[in-house]
Amino acid sequence: MKSQSALVAGGSGFVGSHLCESLLNDGYDVFCIDNFGSGSRENISHLTSSGNFEVIEADIREPLDLPPVDEIYHLASRASPKDFQKYPVRIALANTKGTRNLLDYAVEHDAKMLFASTSEVYGDPEVHPQNESYNGNVNIRGPRGCYDESKRFGETLTVAYNNKHDLDVRTVRIFNTYGPRMHMDDGRVVPNFITQALKGEDLTVYGDGSQTRSFCYVSDLIRGIEKTMQADGLAGEVINLGNEDERTIHELAETIIDISGTESGITHEPLPEDDPSRRRPDLSKARQILDYETEVELREGLRKTLEYFEDQI
Ligand SMILES: NC(=O)c1ccc[n+]([C@@H]2O[C@H](COP(=O)([O-])OP(=O)(O)OC[C@H]3O[C@@H](n4cnc5c(N)ncnc54)[C@H](O)[C@@H]3O)[C@@H](O)[C@H]2O)c1
Repeated sequence: MKSQSALVAGGSGFVGSHLCESLLNDGYDVFCIDNFGSGSRENISHLTSSGNFEVIEADIREPLDLPPVDEIYHLASRASPKDFQKYPVRIALANTKGTRNLLDYAVEHDAKMLFASTSEVYGDPEVHPQNESYNGNVNIRGPRGCYDESKRFGETLTVAYNNKHDLDVRTVRIFNTYGPRMHMDDGRVVPNFITQALKGEDLTVYGDGSQTRSFCYVSDLIRGIEKTMQADGLAGEVINLGNEDERTIHELAETIIDISGTESGITHEPLPEDDPSRRRPDLSKARQILDYETEVELREGLRKTLEYFEDQI
């Protein structure tokens, strides 16, 4: 029987590298396409000896000439809040022009596609927890607009291609995910806190720390992504993926101080503009359609992530 093939755009990034690894383990032929902007060759160095893995250095914002595949996973967008200030145009175009290029490629080869959207499409939510039918509260002109709004338009494109071309394209809205291979200095809260704890520096909490997030360990997310691609009847649909275990940022800081055994304390700095006050996915749809349950508890996931960062420092 012919093996399945998949292309992972953004395959050398944090989430993408775990997805490539998992698809290879499942017996796929995997093509990783990346411009190595925020991803790294080191993230995928353990995969390159596999005869079923090919790396293509290319930018999805440019016209694409790629091999035919059965499945396309679009994860090619920087996701670090630091980068929203540094690379706003690149980010906006990766999720719009880049999404269009990949959708055209999917139509050309009659491939199935999955678009990695984000919980940021909900902005600073007035509805809690957030389910897929909530339309969000995004500041389209604010400092996070390049990311939040381009993901929203990326989603609109997937619906348009589903309607116009009958393309089987699915969207996942990913909530805060963490784990090994995140960048130490990428500005997201888990790597920030772990790096500070390992260096013995105080952990910087923005605001009073009462804002909440729900943290998903990367292996749980990858299982959800693969289930979304495989499930019947999801063409044109959107599904939340993440973890429902909601914690305050202050609690996260204390947990990381505890498991790392650091002497670090906690300092406070002003809250950045448009920082969402609450974030928790409603996972009813994922549970019902995908039988999705998270398996990795926060302390366990943080411990594994800490071990990875210890080797990086
Ligand atoms: N990690 C999370 O918590 C989270 C949450 C919500 C959504 N997401 C989405 O998941 C996807 C992966 O996120 P991540 O956390 O792994 O980020 P990441 O920065 O580690 O990975 C993104 C990858 O895409 C590549 N890339 C970016 N622009 C590109 C372009 N124009 N052409 C080719 N490659 C390009 C980067 O080099 C990198 O390898 C993104 O689409 C992100 O928006 C992630």
